[in-house]
Amino acid sequence: CAPVIALDGPTASGKGTVALRVAAVLGWHVLDSGAIYRLAALTVMNHDVVLTDLTRISDLAREMRIHFEQGRILLDGVDVTSSIRHENVGNLASELAKEPVLRQGLLERQRAFRTWPGLVADGRDMGTVVFPDAPLKIFLLADVDARAHRRYRQLVEKGESADYEIILADLKARDERDMNRLVAPLKPAEDAYVIDSSALTVEQTVERVLALWRQ
Ligand code: CDP
Repeated sequence: CAPVIALDGPTASGKGTVALRVAAVLGWHVLDSGAIYRLAALTVMNHDVVLTDLTRISDLAREMRIHFEQGRILLDGVDVTSSIRHENVGNLASELAKEPVLRQGLLERQRAFRTWPGLVADGRDMGTVVFPDAPLKIFLLADVDARAHRRYRQLVEKGESADYEIILADLKARDERDMNRLVAPLKPAEDAYVIDSSALTVEQTVERVLALWRQ
């Protein structure tokens, strides 16, 4: 099968940007698996579903029609590129991500992105669960303050309101949920290279990933 670079790490570690740049250099595809969880959350919000009905939730997630095209994300034909980034969608995604049946329901969808010439897969469990045979696994860390500063700057640059303390508390809560869930908790695969990007620029991080791939 096509090669995969699994790029896992906590929220706001810069994985998304690094994944896009590495994929651009190699000419590979990208899987933003967080977006798939967000799409599942949005589908659940769009249907009249009781949040305890996990079978229905997992069925909806298996059946939702999603398209990734040139930076845009479509759900059942509707452009949801910006709406899936809303905080309420992210929070529901994070809640639903705890559920094994939902994770199972999304597994094949994620694996279907593995096509030639290769895939850079961005997520929490790319190296541990979705692509355990990936030839290169990276776990991208950054301390929580560095991540909160990055997220703060991103919001300010977009002209949105941002409160540093709230961002920091939110990141800590999400780390806690991601690391302590029973299924696919956030942790480096045994054979992952850990890169701490706290003091690295995006370019330096991309260079390290590419150097590991080429070695
Ligand atoms: O908002 P943030 O950047 O942290 O999240 P995201 O990467 O867009 O992913 C949304 C949610 O899906 C996160 O809260 C993760 O817990 C969950 N997720 C997951 O469980 N497994 C993945 N492979 C990717 C995301």
